[in-house]
Amino acid sequence: MHFQLTEEHLMIQQAARDFAQTELLPGVIERDDHQKFPAEGVRKMGELGFMGMMVSPEYHGSGMDTVSYVLAMEEISKIDASASVSMSVNNSLVCWGLEQYGSPEQKEKYLKRLATGEVIGAFCLSEPEAGSDATSQKTTAIDMGDHYLLNGTKNWITNGNSASIYLVIAQTDVAKGHRGINALIVEKGMPGFIVGKKEDKMGIRGSDTHSLMFTDVKVPKENRLGEDGFGFKFAMKTLSGGRIGIAAQALGIASGALELAAKYATERKSFGKPIGEHQGVAFKLADMATKVEAARLLVLKSAWLKDQGLPFDKESAMAKLYASEVAMEVTTEAVQIHGGYGFVKEYHVERLMRDAKITQIYEGTSEIQRIVISRAVLNEAAGI
Ligand code: CAA
Repeated sequence: MHFQLTEEHLMIQQAARDFAQTELLPGVIERDDHQKFPAEGVRKMGELGFMGMMVSPEYHGSGMDTVSYVLAMEEISKIDASASVSMSVNNSLVCWGLEQYGSPEQKEKYLKRLATGEVIGAFCLSEPEAGSDATSQKTTAIDMGDHYLLNGTKNWITNGNSASIYLVIAQTDVAKGHRGINALIVEKGMPGFIVGKKEDKMGIRGSDTHSLMFTDVKVPKENRLGEDGFGFKFAMKTLSGGRIGIAAQALGIASGALELAAKYATERKSFGKPIGEHQGVAFKLADMATKVEAARLLVLKSAWLKDQGLPFDKESAMAKLYASEVAMEVTTEAVQIHGGYGFVKEYHVERLMRDAKITQIYEGTSEIQRIVISRAVLNEAAGI
């Protein structure tokens, strides 16, 4: 076992760090204030290969491993979690799902454009009445022979308006329960598909979160992913990898807050010395740094397992659970260390604290991660 990143990993990490500093930091406070999608930043991320990092070069992706992806996600999330959630959904949910389970024609038609960032994608599972309980899909995709007739509403969809290609999960045969669910590729502009209201959010305010409405949308049969009834498993398998990306996002938010707090603690003086020399602050920084490092190890391990082709469902849930809780704790302490300055926008940590909260909610709440982990632990104990 060794913990050394390769030369290539270090180069990707540095490239992502430089990009975030030069392209995403300027304007990040204003974008958050005005709920402005970082369109230019996301476009440039596509040019640099960050939107299809794990897609093979055959489909115009960067052909990198998951470890490279989480390193880049961490760096970009330190600066702008609204940009990184767009990157995460496009990479882990949309591109990965298409590359693993798409037909050669689907990959040719959709994946190539998604992998270069020419267009971006959205993953549409959540509904007004089906968030954690994802088998209770109310959106229907009725089999009409050569096409499906899609009806229903999706909620809280990341890249909701900026996307061009949507992977939509819907129920085809209620009697079959989760085995009657399908995943369909829906294009913006298909008649009957309307992008609904934009959510006014507490955090990741620059990201583009919408409800979507489908009324008698005719989706060609060739747009179904996998066999009939594979949609729920498709969603679960895809989300399992997606959780590594969100864990890396949470890690980036936490490590970004730690860096800011540590720097501030060396600059700000009270009672005649830098506040970092007061034990009350120094001990906080020690705890924050330890938790960030523990989260990083879980994130890197789950990415490594995925790269080795080994099972990673339990580990990705652990990484997301722990990193998101660390993000909340560390950003809260970073605000505390900054005192009054922490409560104002200019110092960034209040935004990081607001952004941290969503990492405990999307791609499965902390409670869902605990369900996934505890089931795995119990199965292992039962020898299943
Ligand atoms: N891989 C493959 N198959 C899986 C699986 C996995 N990781 N997890 C479950 N399955 C399969 C099961 O084997 C089972 O299939 P069989 O009956 O054929 O054996 C089927 O799926 C149903 O599984 P469960 O009985 O375990 O289902 P459940 O109803 O108990 O739910 C759950 C399991 C883990 C709670 C699941 O519903 C879940 O993950 N919910 C959370 C959904 C979620 O993460 N939503 C996030 C929305 S997307 C998002 O946020 C993106 C964004 O915009 C940022």
